[in-house]
Amino acid sequence: MKTILCIGAGYVGGPTMAMIARKCPDYRVIVVDIDAARIKAWQSDRLPIYEPGLQDLVQLSLNKSLFFSTDVAQGIREADIIFVSVNTPTKTFGQGAGRAADLQYWEKTAREIKANSTSDKIVVEKSTLPVRTAEAMERILHSGNKTVHFEVLSNPEFLAEGTAVKDLENPDRVLIGGHATESGRRAQSALAEVYAHWVPRDRILTTSVWSSELSKLAANAFLAQRISSINSLSALCERTEADITEVARAIGMDARIGSRFLNASVGFGGSCFKKDILNLVYLCHHYGLKEVADYWEQVVIMNEYQEDRFVRQMIATMFNTVAGKRIAVFGFAFKADTGDTRESPAIRISRFLADERASVVVTDPEALGNARKDLADLGEKISYDPDPYKAAEGAHALAVMTDWAEYKTLDYQRINESMVKPAFIFDGRNCLNHQALYEIGFNVYPIGKAPLSHL
Ligand code: UDX
Ligand code: UDX
Repeated sequence: MKTILCIGAGYVGGPTMAMIARKCPDYRVIVVDIDAARIKAWQSDRLPIYEPGLQDLVQLSLNKSLFFSTDVAQGIREADIIFVSVNTPTKTFGQGAGRAADLQYWEKTAREIKANSTSDKIVVEKSTLPVRTAEAMERILHSGNKTVHFEVLSNPEFLAEGTAVKDLENPDRVLIGGHATESGRRAQSALAEVYAHWVPRDRILTTSVWSSELSKLAANAFLAQRISSINSLSALCERTEADITEVARAIGMDARIGSRFLNASVGFGGSCFKKDILNLVYLCHHYGLKEVADYWEQVVIMNEYQEDRFVRQMIATMFNTVAGKRIAVFGFAFKADTGDTRESPAIRISRFLADERASVVVTDPEALGNARKDLADLGEKISYDPDPYKAAEGAHALAVMTDWAEYKTLDYQRINESMVKPAFIFDGRNCLNHQALYEIGFNVYPIGKAPLSHL
């Protein structure tokens, strides 16, 4: 029986390995992480991440073919295929700070793999990495004593949070980048074999390592670009009599454009979009392609503009002051169905409001733990309440930051009665029924369309 190891039990490693274990009973799957508390949580009935359907998926294989452990060295010794999905955050120091990827965990992991390997390994880059990282890894793995052969593949993960289980079960494609050598092709086939347990062969693409690495950055850059494009037009809609939902529908029906990923919002968040674009920008600069770098950087600049524009509009609408006013932030996760708050627009907006001396109360069904960490330095300036009704009590305004389904079906009559008048709703996700809210008495401010105001 072959053994698959995954180093890094995060949002990517955990769900991906749970799916592989479920679909490939002929493999033993071990997931290791340096964080012992995280490993313990994966073995419990309260997983370290919230993801619909994941608890059941893990339970199906847990301690049968799927094992979680902190013993990285032993995992490496036993593995035939090693996935690496440790985090690669944006560098916060030194050269490339704020843009380049911080590869220290990756490099440390490569050295650990080398130190503990006594048989040949296929090493799979699962983390999103700058183009040509595989090359650096190979140099480390093949330095010094060469008795063990390492074949490095790039196999980026395209799952989106909140739909991870669905995306893993039915991926649009699986991308496997490898070298055009005999051992490279053999390794690509070995990995393709794993996915072919449930993914149709024609959706498993093999490319060069570099194409695979770049494709992941490119896919995220294109997706984020669509959001920045529609968001840029939302600003124009607010100045004219156009409605961004109507515009999105009209352009989305062009099959060449397509209708998905055209929802105007307060901005995109998540651990990937900003990081990967900044990575791409850094790479372009590195290769002397300033115009290309500037082109993609604008996607991130537009996103920050959208967040700031939203909060500036809130303040202007509320008579140019929010000082001392209670504002309920509805949703803190970067999207619905996750507790993840990395790069969530809610972080920047809550901070902005706190700076303006608003009394901010945050509510979210899954993300309050992370919200408390993100805003820890603000102390008493922010309060938290899992109950949206309580959060709204005595508030001057609601700011919808996450498109949680449950926010659509709240009793807004009751909420309106408990708020200070005039009561405002700023819908940063265009996910509520604006006309109904207006009829209840709210002053409603959507994104990219005319406000519905009684004032
Ligand atoms: C991360 C990156 O953010 C993403 O770009 C990449 O595509 C995949 O890896 P994610 O799974 O969301 O995505 O990260 P995270 O949830 O932070 O998980 C990484 C895990 O690696 C953490 O649990 C961390 O403890 C672990 N880790 C980190 C190690 O086990 N060893 C290390 O040396 C560093
Ligand atoms: C993304 C990619 O979709 C995925 O393929 C990749 O592997 C990781 O990065 P993720 O960040 O988990 O996934 O979520 P995604 O659904 O892409 O949403 C990202 C952000 O864009 C969220 O904040 C979301 O609310 C926002 N968004 C998305 C919009 O504002 N409008 C849209 O139309 C779609």
